[in-house]
Amino acid sequence: MNRHSLVFKLTLFLSLFFVSVMLFIAFANVQITRTNLKQSEEDKIRIIVNTVLPIISMNMSFGFDEPVKELIESLPKGNRNILAAQILAPNERILYSAYTDQDYTDIFVKVGNGHFFHQSDIIDPVTGEMLGTLRLAYSNTYYQRITGEYEKFLIYTIIPILAIFALFVYVFYKKLSPIRQLSQKLATYSPSNESGIRVEMMRGKDEIAVINNTAKTMLENIQSYTNRLSELNQNLEAKIRKEVEKNREKDRILIQQSRQAALGEMIGNIAHQWRQPINALGLILQDIEDAHEHQELSTQYLALSVDQAMELISHMSDTIDDFRNFFLPNKEKDLFTLDQVINNTLKIVGASLESEEIHVEVQIRDAISIYSYQNEFTQVFINMINNSKDAFKNSHRHDKRIRIESYYDTPHNELIILVSDNAGGIPEAIMDKIFDPYFTTKYKDKGTGIGLYMAKAIIETNMGGVLKASNTDGGAKMLIQLPMEAIRKPGR
Ligand SMILES: Nc1ncnc2c1ncn2[C@@H]1O[C@H](COP(=O)(O)OP(=O)(O)OP(=O)(O)O)[C@@H](O)[C@H]1O
Ligand SMILES: [Mg+2]
Repeated sequence: MNRHSLVFKLTLFLSLFFVSVMLFIAFANVQITRTNLKQSEEDKIRIIVNTVLPIISMNMSFGFDEPVKELIESLPKGNRNILAAQILAPNERILYSAYTDQDYTDIFVKVGNGHFFHQSDIIDPVTGEMLGTLRLAYSNTYYQRITGEYEKFLIYTIIPILAIFALFVYVFYKKLSPIRQLSQKLATYSPSNESGIRVEMMRGKDEIAVINNTAKTMLENIQSYTNRLSELNQNLEAKIRKEVEKNREKDRILIQQSRQAALGEMIGNIAHQWRQPINALGLILQDIEDAHEHQELSTQYLALSVDQAMELISHMSDTIDDFRNFFLPNKEKDLFTLDQVINNTLKIVGASLESEEIHVEVQIRDAISIYSYQNEFTQVFINMINNSKDAFKNSHRHDKRIRIESYYDTPHNELIILVSDNAGGIPEAIMDKIFDPYFTTKYKDKGTGIGLYMAKAIIETNMGGVLKASNTDGGAKMLIQLPMEAIRKPGR
């Protein structure tokens, strides 16, 4: 039995309370009855004494012995309850005595077997002198019988009451047992417990049945919600997996598209890079033809021209290599400096920047090695420079400048790279959209809107840094923050 159970405590309290109240009532009753009965017996004795005492004192005062003797003897005879009557002289000598039975001759000597005793002084009514003492022994049989009967009566009533009470306690305890069982089950309940707990349905409409049945419904509801939740969770996981897969697919397409876009631009860039050497080659060929026409083509002159042409061709071939290097995807991370990245970037976009008369300023204050995918990082700069280049097309500025600045931020232990231009800046209204995929303000055929999305993905997802855009006085500014621990080669 659980000693903390409310039902147990309640039952115990009720039992103790009821039994003690019953015992108290019985005890008090017996006590009151005894006192009252005793009082009434004593009153009877007093009445007898008050009746005979004036007669006795009168007769004794006149010296009539016989009537006194008769009166004393008549007392036990007339009332069976008077066991003995005596008159003593002032010197304690027995003057008269009478008994119901010979057993009681020395009743006044052996006082104390529960009978009532009474003693009154006999006073001379004329002189007021003390004539003697009247003693009475009065039977307690009636008193004993009545109190005995009363006690019996009480016991006979209390026992059935206690029995009924015990039955009541039993029923009460039984009736509340569903609550007790329910509380034990609820205490061990956990929704993750596969087997769960079983609560039986109760008939009836009383509070206990309502609590029990409501708990049953609640538990069933919780179980079904838990089941549904875990089902939902499984579905959700599947959905998330699908979404992630979709996203990856989207990114793959994006990268593909961006590479194609870049390829288009690259071809443009190659054209720029080759324009000048192709012109020069053309001039050399024309020169050779002219010399031949005028018979001035000496072996020496031909060799010189071929050397010049070969140099141009090798320069053009270098350009192709640069571009091809950039287009080869990096399979592994390697260690490089920002200087190298900027040089590679300028090899690719330099010629087209020159043709647009855009001046590039580079200021790298701290030479820091970066351990990452170099070509991806290069693409970030190409994308940014291309954006600036596009912005200049609408700015009609003459002093077109792109500034690349870098330093080590000691307090934050990170490499800071700033790419800024003076092409007018990014309209504030679109500032929070420029990193979204496919967001572009350029004509459909000119921009795909993935340049900055790609740049952000490379800096933040691949390199663990941060890329932010803002505006300066005259143009846009891109801020790259690369925490040192993210770009440091492990073990260095
Ligand atoms: N330096 C800049 N100056 C002004 N606006 C800029 C600059 N860089 C980006 N933007 C704005 O941000 C938009 C998004 O740039 P993002 O590079 O992502 O796409 P895009 O250049 O339009 O197209 P894509 O790069 O794919 O050819 C641009 O359309 C342009 O409006
Ligand atoms: Mg762009």
